[in-house]
Amino acid sequence: MLKIAVLVSGGGTNLQAILDAIENGVITNARVEAVISNKKDAYALTRAKEHGIRSFAVSPKEYETREAFGEALLSKINEIAPDLIVLAGFLVILPEKLVMQYKNRMINIHPSLIPSFCGPGYYGLKVHEEALARGVKVTGATVHFVDGGCDTGPIIMQKAVEVEQGDTPETLQRRVMEQAEWIILPKTIDMIANGKVQVCDGKVVLEQEAMTK
Ligand code: GRF
Repeated sequence: MLKIAVLVSGGGTNLQAILDAIENGVITNARVEAVISNKKDAYALTRAKEHGIRSFAVSPKEYETREAFGEALLSKINEIAPDLIVLAGFLVILPEKLVMQYKNRMINIHPSLIPSFCGPGYYGLKVHEEALARGVKVTGATVHFVDGGCDTGPIIMQKAVEVEQGDTPETLQRRVMEQAEWIILPKTIDMIANGKVQVCDGKVVLEQEAMTK
């Protein structure tokens, strides 16, 4: 059984999608062991509590330096000892030590088709604003392993979403979540939990039969 730690900063709709997928059997062989937020008032923490999942806030405001916060975050994660870390809207630059220790065991969901609209500064509504400003007709979401860069790690799964006439950043964000993020994040976790994801030469190889599930 894969032990997951989910790291969040906000509303936690992706966390909810994971919890629902575990409950309805879309994800097998995995359980959410703990949820960690960098914000005490993140609604995601309430969702965790409602599901009887341990939840913790590790806030940078409570530490004198970024390094001290990084150490506290790492030690909380190590206490949980997850097999997989899922960044589900976690808006924190991660300590290098954490990234190295969890190489190929930490995934992130990004609300665009990487390498478009990603990298430093591309988070939240900004991603969708830029997609609309460029006039793309298709956008989507990407799940990738986390490496030392910003949105640069090996891509595991992507799903395209059509941009519609009259879209606002908000309507596009919602469609990307509904049609892509809430689907490919649980699907990726299920594949990892069932040994269907491998990294070869910095690229992800998925076991074909699992993709048609
Ligand atoms: C999602 O759009 C995700 O792709 C991005 O942050 C947002 C998190 O939303 N990284 P939620 O907290 O899961 O509702």
